[in-house]
Amino acid sequence: MHSDNQPSSATFLTHAAQLLTLRSASGETGSRRGAEMRELGIIEDGAVLIAGGKIVAVGTTDEVAKHELLTAKPVHIDEIDCSGNVVLPGFVDSHTHPVFAAPRLIDFEQRIAGATYEEIAEAGGGIRASLRGVRDASLETLAAHVLHALDEMAEHGTTTVECKSGYGLNFAAEMKSLEAIREASHQWPGYVVATLLAAHVVPPEHRENPEEYVRIICEDMIPTAAKLKLAAYVDVFCERGAFSIEQSQRILRSAVDHNLGVRAHVCQLTTAQLAPLMEFHPASLDHMDFVSDEDVAVLSKLDTVATLLPAANYFLGLESFPPARRLLDSGVAVALATDYNPGTSPTASMAFVLSVACTHMKMSPAEALVAATYNGACALHLQGRKGSLDPGKDADIAIFEAMDFRELAYWFGVNRCRETFLIGIRQIRR
Ligand code: NIG
Ligand code: FE
Repeated sequence: MHSDNQPSSATFLTHAAQLLTLRSASGETGSRRGAEMRELGIIEDGAVLIAGGKIVAVGTTDEVAKHELLTAKPVHIDEIDCSGNVVLPGFVDSHTHPVFAAPRLIDFEQRIAGATYEEIAEAGGGIRASLRGVRDASLETLAAHVLHALDEMAEHGTTTVECKSGYGLNFAAEMKSLEAIREASHQWPGYVVATLLAAHVVPPEHRENPEEYVRIICEDMIPTAAKLKLAAYVDVFCERGAFSIEQSQRILRSAVDHNLGVRAHVCQLTTAQLAPLMEFHPASLDHMDFVSDEDVAVLSKLDTVATLLPAANYFLGLESFPPARRLLDSGVAVALATDYNPGTSPTASMAFVLSVACTHMKMSPAEALVAATYNGACALHLQGRKGSLDPGKDADIAIFEAMDFRELAYWFGVNRCRETFLIGIRQIRR
C-alpha cells in the first residue's frame, strides 16, 4: 500500500477529552451566524491524524486508528496522548498591530490618572507616540519584535495572525513595517496576513494638510505595497481625530483598484454611517462599539464579519463593551481578536479575549470559540484552509489543559495552552 506520494511520517493526536472540530452541520462555507455560532462539532475521545502539514482524518480515537496511513507499515507515527485536554483549531487572531518598538507606559499612567484615549492622542501621545520608535528602528529590530509577538501568540494557542503596519506613518516607515512583518512571517511556522494601515492617524508633518497624506497613501503606499506583494489588505482608522468617511472611501477605493482586500476600524469611539464603506465589500469591520441599528440590519445580510476587540475596552478601563448580543441576535457574523497593540491592547492571549467576551459581552463560551476560530478565518477569507478541523485543511491545532470547552473562557490570567501545531509544526510551550 505504500506509494511514493505517501508521507513518511505522521502525527496522531489521540484521546482528547473533547475535540472541537468546528465543522459546520449545514455544510455551508460562509461565515457563521445565529444558531450556527453555537455549534462546536464536539467529539469525545477525539483524535486527529496529521501528515504533510495537513489534517488527514478526524473522528473518535477508535475510528481514526483504522485509517490506512496508520496501518501502512513504513510510516513513522508520533502518537500524542491528549487525554485531559481540549483540542481545537488554532485561534485565528484577525486583528493585531505588532510592529512597534516600545510599550506606551506614559499613556498608561496618564489614563490611570484620568485622561481619556482621545485626550492623550490630541496632546501628541497615542498612536503618534509610537511613531518615532518605528521610524528610528532598523528593519531587523522591528522584525524581531514582530517575531517575538507571534511566538507569544502561538504559546497561547494562536496559529494564524493578521498583522498591520500603522506606526511608521510615512512611505519609508510603512514599507519597512510591512517588510518587518514579512521577515518575521518567514521565520514563524504559522500563517501571517499582512495589512497596510498607513491610514492610522495623520502624522505631525501633515497636520496642516491631511489631504496630502491621503494622497501619498493612495498614490504611493498602496501601489507599492500591492506591487511588491507586501500586503493583502488595506485598513483605515475611520474615526473622529483620524480619517473621515470621505477620506476612508478614497483610501479603500485605491485598495480595490490595486486588487487588495479591504477592512476598517469603525465606530470605536463614535457612531458612523457605514453604508459608504460597504461598496468596497470589506472582509471585516472592526471594533463596532457604536454601530447603529440600521447598519446592524444591513450587516446581517452581508458576508462582512464584525470583529469585536473587547480587550481594548478592558485595557482602556471603559465601562461599556462592543454590543455582541445586539449583533449576534440580529444575525451578524461576529469574530473576536486581540487587537494586540501598545496603546489599547497589549495582550497576545485569545483566551483572555474569550473571557472578556463572555463576562462583559454575554457571548456564550461556544459563540466566543466560533468567533475566535472559524469566523476569524472568515474575516481573512481563509475559511477554506483555516478555522476548523476538516480533512484537507492546514494542521493548525491548539491543545489546552481542560476537560470541557467552557474552561477555555473560564480560567483567566493564566495560560492553559499546552502546545500548538502550526501547519503541522509542533510548538511546545517553553
Ligand atoms: O485598534 N483604533 C486604532 N488603533 C488601535 C489603537 C492603536 C494605538 O493606540 O496604538 C486599536 O485600538
Ligand atoms: Fe486595531
